[in-house]
Amino acid sequence: GRLIVAIDGPSGTGKSSVSKEVARRLGVGYLDTGAMYRAVAWWAQHQGIDLTDQVAVAHAAETIPLVMGTNPDDPRVSVDDIPIDQQIRTSEISEVVSAVATNLAVRSTMKKRQRQLINQIAEATGGVVAEGRDITTVVAPFADARILMTASEEVRMGRRSKELAVDAEATRAQIVERDAKDSTVAQFLTAADGVITIDTSDLDFEESVAAVLGAIEA
Ligand code: CDP
Repeated sequence: GRLIVAIDGPSGTGKSSVSKEVARRLGVGYLDTGAMYRAVAWWAQHQGIDLTDQVAVAHAAETIPLVMGTNPDDPRVSVDDIPIDQQIRTSEISEVVSAVATNLAVRSTMKKRQRQLINQIAEATGGVVAEGRDITTVVAPFADARILMTASEEVRMGRRSKELAVDAEATRAQIVERDAKDSTVAQFLTAADGVITIDTSDLDFEESVAAVLGAIEA
């Protein structure tokens, strides 16, 4: 059968790197739903849309010519056939992405697209690991395994600033603000009913991968 794995959690928990490795080990496809919100933010800005214009941003989310790569070794994101992986991971986009992600019309469009993608990927590769903030609860509550990755705030901030090689204080402030905004529209700081929590505070990468694989088998 097809194996659908849903993984949620905030930044700095190892969610992205662990999700990709788990998909690799299982030999299935991968979906980064956060990259989709980032792509909408980038695309809307690229078109000169004011991100506080809810209607215009919702329209951008509906019409964006977005193609999501689903190979965990190279999950390329493109818009109009142009790769935008680097553009969507800048601090500027991190700064504005919550404005797009708290737009409820955008969320409704993304939920539909993400659910379709999850089913398509699972069909094509025998399964999927999809990660984000609302995959276990809204996008794929029907998943075979539903996991919330957490870590202490201290550990999360440390991992994130190391990853970005930028000022730790600025990173901390930005992430705290983003979590506060995002948590008004998605439950990813505490586990919903039936969701398995994996606290990675004291786990290294390999141990985190093993914990997720263990939760999938359970
Ligand atoms: O880079 P980081 O792990 O911090 O975040 P991401 O997974 O790239 O997600 C970027 C942003 O997209 C989040 O801060 C949320 O605003 C939004 N997001 C969401 O609302 N729902 C999801 N399922 C995934 C991401």
